[in-house]
Amino acid sequence: MAGDTGRSGSVYGGVAEPCTVVLFGASGDLAKRKVIPAMYDLATHNALGSRYAIVGFARTPMSEESFRTTLGEAAKTISEVGPIDPKQWDNFASNLFYCQGDYANQEAYAQLAKRLAELESSKNLGGNRLFYLSTPPEVYPDIVEQLGRAGLNRPASPRSWMRMIIEKPFGRDLASAKDLNQIVLNVLDERQVYRIDHYLAKDTVQNLLVLRFGNGIFEPLWNRNYVDHVQITASETLGVERRGGFYETAGALRDMIQSHVLQLTSLVAVEPPASFDATAVRNEKLKVLQSIRPFNLEMVAQSVVRGQYAPGKFGDKPALGYREEPGVNPASKTETFVSGKLLIDNWRWAGVPFYIRTGKRLAKRSTEIMIQFRRAPHIVFRERDIEPNRLVLNIQPDEGISVSFGAKRPGTEMSIGNVTMNFSYREGFGEATRSAYATLVNDCLRGDATLFDRGDTVEAAWSLVDPILDVWSAARSATVPQYPAGSWGPRESDLLLERDGRRWYNP
Ligand code: BG6
Repeated sequence: MAGDTGRSGSVYGGVAEPCTVVLFGASGDLAKRKVIPAMYDLATHNALGSRYAIVGFARTPMSEESFRTTLGEAAKTISEVGPIDPKQWDNFASNLFYCQGDYANQEAYAQLAKRLAELESSKNLGGNRLFYLSTPPEVYPDIVEQLGRAGLNRPASPRSWMRMIIEKPFGRDLASAKDLNQIVLNVLDERQVYRIDHYLAKDTVQNLLVLRFGNGIFEPLWNRNYVDHVQITASETLGVERRGGFYETAGALRDMIQSHVLQLTSLVAVEPPASFDATAVRNEKLKVLQSIRPFNLEMVAQSVVRGQYAPGKFGDKPALGYREEPGVNPASKTETFVSGKLLIDNWRWAGVPFYIRTGKRLAKRSTEIMIQFRRAPHIVFRERDIEPNRLVLNIQPDEGISVSFGAKRPGTEMSIGNVTMNFSYREGFGEATRSAYATLVNDCLRGDATLFDRGDTVEAAWSLVDPILDVWSAARSATVPQYPAGSWGPRESDLLLERDGRRWYNP
């Protein structure tokens, strides 16, 4: 299917006001792989304008020159925004600066404040400041408190703004998320806080709202009268790679379900917001999370499955099992796979199960939402076994939408076959490399929080996940089912649907 490729203006919609971005954790992996390439992409699309500075702050001692070189080398090899143009990079890098310091050291923040004032004056940046927390989450409280102590939580002048982006994970359970919210809101106003869930900035995720609320044909069907069930899959082929140490403290439930998968769920289920602004959209999403039936012991046993990838083969190469990965306890019970059944107790979705699953080392990398519709109420054809209609939203990697339905096979017999109508983003709108991180930073610089998490929604998501974590940690002697690399998870996950007379729709 073809699309209208015409775009108005820059892909990033407007030029940011002059500003300084302070990147905490600037020597870390996320900064190198995602944040700096995203900033470079914004700069080269003229979304940052000509007056900006990016100040890296981290513990690692490093000169400004080697900071620039290290980031340049990293961007060349791991940039997700496409090839780096050396000339454009040099231009961008001349706006990169570095401050070394310990996150808990008050003196380091006094130095930082001094540096910011100097840069703002020499580069005529005005006083707009964005503080980006891309450090390990343990140091978030130190950074926030120290910024407050140094007076950096307040805008530099009456006409400027101060905002803060906080990376996920935001807490590791409900209590710690509440504590962190409290610490942050002691020094900042909620309107200054931008909590990241990068899935929300993927074009195809945003398109969910356009599909539902920008078209007349889908919404009338989008409810319990027509939808049989929904499946949401976020599968990865990679294992935990070099993040074994971190992953041991997280697991798939915390790492993917609490954030990305519940975000996707709330966008599929959300009621039409009164307008497309941050408050209206986020209010509606919060209601969805609050309507999901809370898990109790029995529901966890019946409706939640966990698993761990076993040693095996991936393609023709041997693959390590999770417990053999570097940094992982050989007797670990941390789950690398979760599937579950959610029930949303509201008028629209009563009785419609939402089956969700995520995992590492699965058969295919794919994030997909499948809406399965109820069968026709009465089939008049001799052939009764017609596949149900499905609407599949492919979030990544083959971004697109497909609808399947029954059609008459050519020939004299009345025989019915299942056909699929496909829309592919690439074919419809052409290739567009745009990182979710660039979208998010750009939105934050323009003061638009629609695609960020609010404190109450993060807490609502933790409230759902907490009872599952509690049941699992109480069941110390329980074994975690193993699944072979390259499969769709443990057998228990199939049974979850088979018990309801359904099966997983594998991408
Ligand atoms: C991150 C998780 O939030 O999302 C990772 O911490 C996961 O474990 C990643 O691999 C997946 O993101 P994407 O954009 O590659 O689907």
